[in-house]
Amino acid sequence: MKILIIGMGYVGTTTGAVFAHQGHKVTGLDIDQMKIALLNKGKLYFHEPGLQEMLSSQIKKNNLSFTCDPETAVKDHDIIFITVGTPSLENGKADLSYIRQAAEMIGRYKNKEKLVVVKSTVPIGTTDEMEKWIYEYSNNEASVHTAMNPEFLREGSALNDALHPSRIVLGSESSEALVKLKELYKNSTAPILTTSTKAAEIIKYASNGFLATKISFINEIARLCDTVGVSIKDVAEGMGLDERIGAPFLQAGLGYGGSCFPKDVKELLSTADSLGNPLSILREVEKINRTQPSYFVNKVKRTHPLLKDKKVTLFGLSFKPHTDDIRESVSFAVINQLVAEGAKVYVHDPAVTLSTDWIRKGVTQCWDPYVAVKEADLLLICTDWPQYADLNWVKVKERMNGSYLFDGRNMLDKEKIKQLGFYYEGIGNA
Ligand code: UDX
Repeated sequence: MKILIIGMGYVGTTTGAVFAHQGHKVTGLDIDQMKIALLNKGKLYFHEPGLQEMLSSQIKKNNLSFTCDPETAVKDHDIIFITVGTPSLENGKADLSYIRQAAEMIGRYKNKEKLVVVKSTVPIGTTDEMEKWIYEYSNNEASVHTAMNPEFLREGSALNDALHPSRIVLGSESSEALVKLKELYKNSTAPILTTSTKAAEIIKYASNGFLATKISFINEIARLCDTVGVSIKDVAEGMGLDERIGAPFLQAGLGYGGSCFPKDVKELLSTADSLGNPLSILREVEKINRTQPSYFVNKVKRTHPLLKDKKVTLFGLSFKPHTDDIRESVSFAVINQLVAEGAKVYVHDPAVTLSTDWIRKGVTQCWDPYVAVKEADLLLICTDWPQYADLNWVKVKERMNGSYLFDGRNMLDKEKIKQLGFYYEGIGNA
């Protein structure tokens, strides 16, 4: 099939490469000329394991190309996926201006019947609204069929998730749309669920809300474990073995970040409020997550009430390992508090380059973890990059001034670390 994808972010670029890999002819459209220029040269502008190779090979095979020209792109394609961003506004609501822009492009340039599929995470009712916008901008009678096909891929494992999804949700009121989409996904082994468009929209928010709830739930239990001196890892393991609960997403730590969970939780809360159905559980989920960095810094302050002029080294800036994405990363909430306390902050991350704003605030970036810890009074781990577990911790200890290690992701072997002479604290990890 010939597929146009509007919005070359994480989801759009990955989806495009995977559709091309599956034998379709894919064009990626974006208004950002820099992005398109890079992608046309076969250069991925973000870090995602395996995607660069797939992108290059599909471009070489002429299955994948990129453009900034909406007119030709829309006219040439009958199946259009929308994968533009829906970032949070100040009030927590999703900003739909990019969806509206995409609808405008489609409306303006549609020359015949089109299938328009929303993959972006959008609030309840947006897909229907988008259909109206397309018709508003259109000057001809050519019809559009719309559908909502939420994307569940995770950053860092985006390629594998897109190739092997847990489920394919197709929400539409149009039988023509469903027939075409089922044909598109016919070779997938994942279960296909067809629903109304609104149900598909809610499935995405409710899934992310539920996963966020698992994380905040375990983090709240971790605070209780801290109080009674019990290991949250034992508790999570014991809970996770119950197949109704399941082991994933029970890792206590600094809480969730990234481009999806914080934004989606806020949007769902805001929509539910405006519909007169406030979601009280999710409200607490958000609060626990928001306060988790302070909970961690307060642990540090119990051993060091005065952080002024202390050298604090922080490992990990990305919101999770295997990505260079720092959106809503809790590391920066921690750094902010350390800087406010007057600490001298040194950071290390294998993939993230610190922005000049942070350097201006006095934060120093080191590319070698052993250099970063030199003469440090305290060491804080904020992202569970696996390479931190493999460090030579004897060498780390020798290089540091102090011996205080706060593991915000409970990633190190506590007993081994303590044997090396470290003072060690995790989160709920007594
Ligand atoms: C998430 C959803 O998993 C995905 O289905 C959706 O499409 C987009 O949002 P992503 O943002 O890439 O994907 O990250 P994910 O791997 O889910 O992790 C989110 C955050 O939760 C990270 O900050 C991670 O550190 C944190 N997390 C995850 C925990 O704190 N504990 C856990 O047990 C799991």
